[in-house]
This record gives sequence, C-alpha cells and structure tokens, in this order.
Amino acid sequence: MKHPDIERILVSETEIDETVRSIAMQIDKDYSTGGRFCEPGREPKLVLLCVLKGSVVFMGELMKRIGLPVEIDFMKVSSYGNLSVTTGSVNIILDLHRKDISELDILIIEDIIDSGRTLSYLVEYLKLKGAHSVRTCTLLDKIDRREVDFRPDYIGRVIPDEFVVGYGLDYAEKYRALPYVGVLKTEIYTKK
Ligand code: IMP
Ligand code: MG
Repeated sequence: MKHPDIERILVSETEIDETVRSIAMQIDKDYSTGGRFCEPGREPKLVLLCVLKGSVVFMGELMKRIGLPVEIDFMKVSSYGNLSVTTGSVNIILDLHRKDISELDILIIEDIIDSGRTLSYLVEYLKLKGAHSVRTCTLLDKIDRREVDFRPDYIGRVIPDEFVVGYGLDYAEKYRALPYVGVLKTEIYTKK
C-alpha cells in the first residue's frame, strides 16, 4: 500500500531486495581471496560503516546477505551542502570510537549520494585517520546532482533528481520506515 504523501514508488521492495542481494554478492567476491579488493597474503578486515540515520535499513539488510565475516560501526554527520552550495561543509556529530583503525578495510554504507560532499569528506577523513582501505557503497545515486567529483565503489541504483523517502530516507524525520523508495509529493515540502 502506497503512503498518501508519496507521488509514486521509484524502487519497489522487490527491486530493493534484488539490488541489495546483488551488491552483497559483489562485495563477497571483491573482498575474497583473488578479488579486486583483496591483497595477496592478507585477509581483509571488513568493517561496514553505517552513515546514520538514513543508511540504517540498507545496512541491516546488506550485512545479512554478505557471507564474509564483517564488523559494523556507525558515524553520524550533518551536511550543509544543500543549503549553501559555496560552503558545503560536513560536520561530524558521532565519530568512530576505535583507537587504531590501521588494520581496517572500511566500507562506508550510504543511503543516497547527492552532491557527493558527505562521502568525499568521510573517505578523506578515514584515510587521514589511517584506515588500511576506505571504499564506498550507496543504495541510490543522484549522479546529475554531483558538485564534487566522486565515484562510489558500489551503486545500487542511479535515480533521477527527485526528492525521495523511505527505506531509511526521511523528510523531517518522517517516512523512514516505508519498505520502498518513493518520490515525495512536492506539496509536502513546499506547503506552509
Ligand atoms: P551529499 O553530501 O549532498 O551527497 O548528501 C547526501 C545526503 O543528503 C544523504 O545522506 C541524505 O541524508 C541527503 N539526501 C540527499 N538527497 C536526498 C533525498 O532525495 N531524500 C532524502 N535525503 C536526501
Ligand atoms: Mg544520509
């Protein structure tokens, strides 16, 4: 059943499920012996890093489907990229509390990429902190909205430049629990 505030369903539950399974398979392949992200003679220490809060649902589904051993962790950031194109800064609200990350292969799990500022900042930050490797995975990508040159390692689906909610994504903290990704009716965020 479609929520009344949703204009149309963009990615259905079934489509999301297929996408998540296919990303998990690719991750298993890439981080296994002989895979493109596995160095000869070294077993990766894969940590899935969830960017709160939007990526919580995606992360939960993805981690169940990855066969390799994984640890999980969380960070929370706030992006001002959409309010001001010129400043576009990123603030860390909840940091990673591990002391030494030099052995970790971090895979950042993001719900959606828009300008690209959040993820390019996070990748740089974790590399500076000394992670062994930092890679990125996003369920949705609004490629047309990019303001910085950023390409994730894993993309679920490229979507048009429309405001979407559901499957973790919110508008003013609402709609996160919808099981699909839907385009929000414009009157919902333009009224008042
Ligand atoms: P970026 O730094 O511009 O790439 O920002 C990405 C972040 O903006 C995401 O993690 C979301 O929190 C938010 N965002 C961008 N587009 C949407 C959308 O269509 N719906 C909900 N949140 C969005
Ligand atoms: Mg987010």
